[in-house]
Amino acid sequence: MSTAFILLSVTTAAFCFILYRSTRPRKLMTPPGPKPAFIIGNILQVPLTSPEEVFAQWTDNYGDIVYLKVLRQPILILNSVAAAQDLLEKRSAIYSDRPQFVLLNEMMGWQNASTHQAVEKLRPIHEKELCYLVQDLTRTPEQFSQHIRRYAAATIMKVTYGTDVRSNDDLFVRLAERAGSLTIQSGTPAASLVDYIPALKYIPTWAPWADFKRNARIVKEAVDSMFNIPYEMVKSQMISGTVFPCMTSRLMEACGGASGVDSLSPEDEEDIKGVAGTMYAAAEDTTVSIISTFFLAMVLHPEVFQKAQTEMDNVVGTNKLPTFEDRDSLPYLECVFKEVCRWNPAVPLGLPHRLMVDDVYRGYHIPKGTTILANIYAILQNCSQSSVFRPERYIEDPDLLDPRDVIFGFGRRRCPGRHFGERSVWLSIAAIVSTLNISKAKDVLGNDITPEMKVVPGFVRHPVDFKCNILPRRENVEQTVELSLANVLRAYSM
Ligand code: HEM
Repeated sequence: MSTAFILLSVTTAAFCFILYRSTRPRKLMTPPGPKPAFIIGNILQVPLTSPEEVFAQWTDNYGDIVYLKVLRQPILILNSVAAAQDLLEKRSAIYSDRPQFVLLNEMMGWQNASTHQAVEKLRPIHEKELCYLVQDLTRTPEQFSQHIRRYAAATIMKVTYGTDVRSNDDLFVRLAERAGSLTIQSGTPAASLVDYIPALKYIPTWAPWADFKRNARIVKEAVDSMFNIPYEMVKSQMISGTVFPCMTSRLMEACGGASGVDSLSPEDEEDIKGVAGTMYAAAEDTTVSIISTFFLAMVLHPEVFQKAQTEMDNVVGTNKLPTFEDRDSLPYLECVFKEVCRWNPAVPLGLPHRLMVDDVYRGYHIPKGTTILANIYAILQNCSQSSVFRPERYIEDPDLLDPRDVIFGFGRRRCPGRHFGERSVWLSIAAIVSTLNISKAKDVLGNDITPEMKVVPGFVRHPVDFKCNILPRRENVEQTVELSLANVLRAYSM
C-alpha cells in the first residue's frame, strides 16, 4: 500500500468524521447545577430547612438558573426575575401546569382555584374588619398575633363562606390554626419539600425522612374538618334560606342548577369544598405573614415607624382612619410596604409549576415534566445590604424591582387573590400607623426585649413569635374607630 493511499484514506476518514459531527443534531446540555449522585440525584444537597436560602447561594457557582434532580425528578430553580419572566410569563403557555401536590392530594384532594373577586365590591368587609382590628389591638394588645389572624380570617371567611369571625376563639379560626400547625408539626420542612418534589412520595414510610407520611392521617383529619365544617354550614343555610351570598353558595348554585343543593353530586361537593378551602388557606396564612413582618420591622426600626406616622398625620389628619383612596398620597408608607414584602417574602419559593413539553432556554435543554421553582426569596435579596430593612432604598432608586411584582408569583398561575390580599395588608398597616404606637416590650427588670429577625420555615415564612408593646397614639383613637365602624355599618346596612 502506497504512502499516498494511506494519507488519502486517513484524510477522507477525518473529513467524514468532522462532517458527521457538524451535521448530527447536537444533544443539548441541561442547565448547570450541583453534580447529582447515582440514583438519589441531588437529594442530599437540598436542605430540609429554608431551601430557598441555599438555592439562592447556588447562583454564585451555577448562575441564575440551576438544574438539579431529586431521585429522577428534574427541578429548575429560577434565581432571577429575568429568568422567571422569560419562562413563567413569556412562555406561560407551557410553564403553567402544576406538579401533583402530594401532601395536599393525600390529605384533601387539591383543586386549583382561580375565582376572580371584584375587590372594590368587597370594600365594606375590609372597612368593618379594619375597625375591629384596631379595637382589638387597643383593648388586648398582648394578643396582637391572634388579632392579626382573626382579621385575615374574617376578611376571607366572609368572602368564601359568608360568615362573620368576631372572636379569636372562633371555631373556623381554630380549625385553620389546627390544620396549619399540624401540617407544620407533621414533618416540616419535609412536608413542604414533598410538595415541591413529588418524587419524594416514593420514599418508604419507614425511612427517616418520611414523617410526613406517617402523620398524614392526623393532618388529613384536621384539614378535612377545616374544609367540611364551613361547607356544611353554608349548605344548611342554603336549605333554610338564610345564607349570606358568598363564593361557596354561588358555586353550589352554579353546580346544582335549578334543582338546588340537593342535586349536587359527591364529586361536585368535593370540588367546591376544595376550591373554597384552598382559597381560605391560601389567603389567611400569607396575609398573616406580611402583617406580622410589618410589626416586627416596626419594633426593630422605630425611626421608620415615626416617619410613616408623620406622613400619615400630614396627609390624613388625626381624626379619621385612612382609606384606600389615601394610598397615592402616602409615598413613604408605600416604600415601607414594599420593604416589608421584600425583607421577608411570604411565599419564598412560590408554588411549583411544571413544564408541559421539552424546551430550550439560553441554549440549554429543559426536559418535559421539570418542576420549576421561582425563587422569590433570591430574587428579592438581589440588592445592596439585602438583610437590612431600609424603605429609603425605593426613594433612592425608583427603578428598583417592586416586590409586589414578584411576591404573588408569575404568569398564568399568578396569585388570583393578589388584589384582595394587597388591600387587606395595606389597609391594616395604614390603620396601625395612624392609630397605634408599637415599640419593644420590656422584661421584668424594665429592659428592652429586642426580637430577632428569624423565620419559621415552610411554604409560608412567618417571623418567629415575638413580644411587643402596643398603645393607642392618642386619646381619641377609640372614639375615631367607633365612629368609623358606625358609619360603615350604617352605609352598607350591615
Ligand atoms: C396577601 C398575600 C399573598 C401572597 C404573598 C400570595 C402569594 C401567592 C403565590 C406566590 C402563589 C403562587 C403563584 C404562582 O404559581 O406563580 C399564589 C397562588 C394562589 N393564591 Fe395567593 N397570595 C396571597 C394572598 C392570597 C389571597 C388573599 C387569596 C384568596 C383570596 C389567594 C389565593 C391563591 C390561590 C387560590 C392560589 C393558587 C392559584 C393557582 O393555582 O392557579 N392568595 N399566591
